[in-house]
Amino acid sequence: MNNKENIEKLYTSGDLPDDGLISLITIMDKEDEELIYSYAREVREKYYGKEVYLRGLIEFSNYCKNDCKYCGIRRSNENASRYRLSTEEILECCDKGYALGFRTFVLQSGEDLFYTNEKICDIVSRIKANHPDCAVTLSIGEKTREEYQAYFDAGADRYLLREETSNPIHYGKLHPPELSIKNRKQCLYDLKDIGYQVGCGIMVGSPYQTPENIVEDLRFMQDLKPHMIGIGPFIHHKDTPFRDMPDGTLKDTLHLLAILRLMFPHILLPATTALGTIHPLGRELGIKAGANVVMPNLSPRGVRGKYLLYDGKICTGDEAAECRSCMERRIASTGYQVVVSRGDYRA
Ligand code: 5AD
Ligand code: FES
Repeated sequence: MNNKENIEKLYTSGDLPDDGLISLITIMDKEDEELIYSYAREVREKYYGKEVYLRGLIEFSNYCKNDCKYCGIRRSNENASRYRLSTEEILECCDKGYALGFRTFVLQSGEDLFYTNEKICDIVSRIKANHPDCAVTLSIGEKTREEYQAYFDAGADRYLLREETSNPIHYGKLHPPELSIKNRKQCLYDLKDIGYQVGCGIMVGSPYQTPENIVEDLRFMQDLKPHMIGIGPFIHHKDTPFRDMPDGTLKDTLHLLAILRLMFPHILLPATTALGTIHPLGRELGIKAGANVVMPNLSPRGVRGKYLLYDGKICTGDEAAECRSCMERRIASTGYQVVVSRGDYRA
């Protein structure tokens, strides 16, 4: 089949054999792109209309016990200037965010054992008590099932944990030996089983990634059936072992966003900050390729420039309110519209 036929089939059936997916991942021309983006928009509008959901991202600690080779806050990066937000500071971010129209707060950090179970549960339950109409999302890495259960019981609604790559050999090239894809996947299945809305995802163009790896990721996602899929380009960080590796591309990321929208019509799909970092209009183009979520930064200005997973990150100098209005304008320019809503998954 040629790519036009691949796209038609993906649109009508939501799936393709591996070779069709590889063909779409590796070779789409201008016409193929127009076609797949317009189908992706049609499908997203069927379930989500013109709505774009906001997630207020609070990066509350950049301490990390892990040493992932791609990541700027890996423990062996001695140039990272480390910080932690107090519970009070996190709650203040949420109050500010609420006033700006955010109804989802994403608490993200490195894997920082300073925040014990009790601390995380306390933070989550206090946010939920202050803002009962909001969703709380955690993105704090690999924990035990019991810990995930405790956060859920404290009121956490959603959890983001990218698998990064489903292929064990590729996983090993990106991570230190003590981390395994087996445990990562188990975490995701546990989270789903507990009742979280779960987000998984990968980096596009990460070092050593092959098109076959991406297909393996898509197959894993079909098995997991997540509610959210976060993808963005890999971007090198100067103080990591991958400092000289090429970045993922805008095109590859946009292609994969559209493929994901057609394979997972109901998915919550963010146009990520990394996408906005590799191209000034990356997030807008992501929305036009089928994404329906954006995650502006709500972290206090003083720490923003320290949560640097990759070089060149945008929005590090802006106030939350500036990011919020900037985002509103950017999304409006795409013909879609930011809404004040929790933005739950629509089955
Ligand atoms: N480039 C792009 N994305 C990165 N992440 C971590 N490091 C990088 C990088 N160098 C992504 C990972 C992680 C998420 C929080 O950020 O996919 O899961
Ligand atoms: Fe942060 Fe534009 S979204 S400044």
